[in-house]
Amino acid sequence: MRITILTTFPNMFDSFLNYSIIARAIANKHLEVNIVNFRDYTKDKNHRTDSRPIGGGAGLILKCQPIYDALIANSNEKTLKIILTPRGKTFNQKMAKEIATIYDDILIMCGHYEGIDERIYKYFDLELSIGDYILTGGETASFVLIDALSRLTEGVINKESLENETFNNNLVEYPQYTDPYSFNGDEVPKILYCGDHKVIQKYNLKKSLEYTKKYRPDLLKNYNLSKEETILLKEIEDNVTPKWELDAINKAKKFTDKD
Ligand code: ADE
Repeated sequence: MRITILTTFPNMFDSFLNYSIIARAIANKHLEVNIVNFRDYTKDKNHRTDSRPIGGGAGLILKCQPIYDALIANSNEKTLKIILTPRGKTFNQKMAKEIATIYDDILIMCGHYEGIDERIYKYFDLELSIGDYILTGGETASFVLIDALSRLTEGVINKESLENETFNNNLVEYPQYTDPYSFNGDEVPKILYCGDHKVIQKYNLKKSLEYTKKYRPDLLKNYNLSKEETILLKEIEDNVTPKWELDAINKAKKFTDKD
């Protein structure tokens, strides 16, 4: 995937692109990030990219010309052209998946200051917001997009990690644990030591449903439950440990008792 960023603050991207999974994706050539300072495209004799709002008002407004010229020079008909703005559609995982599946070349325009000349928006395919709050600029919002999109790019993250995560299938992710068995008196659920992969999968699905009900009941409302999920949800509502869980917990005891 190739992502081009239009910004007047290119240095803001230095540390973000140089750490962790994003840096590795770039090093392994799964991801290319091209930072373009649209100030380089201004035809203003003072090198300005902004000016006072016509009709009055606070702050400065980004001018069309440098953005337009940078956009034309750094995109083609196959590029998905995104402009970040608080008025845009709210970005979510479903959108991230659609974009990452369809597009290999993405351009993201980061605004700053009070606003952007209204006449520039029509040159973009998509207006996106990352949430209902106002940031000082689109750069931090673009970090969110770069991160969410690049991790969905083939080869960046292993497929198993992507399969089980929150919002896949529209359920919240099940809880996970690591060593030690007991931390400040809180124990890892015994069933996870039973060694039966299928039972653990069923237990994790049940926990996923339980956590979705608890943390994101809105997701569950629009969710089409399978037969197995309907039974598991009933078990959660009845609040009794069913036989399949008790059997697995008994099987697991020989591992946890010696801990
Ligand atoms: N620019 C300022 N606020 C923003 C937001 N919430 N999302 C995207 N771009 C923005």
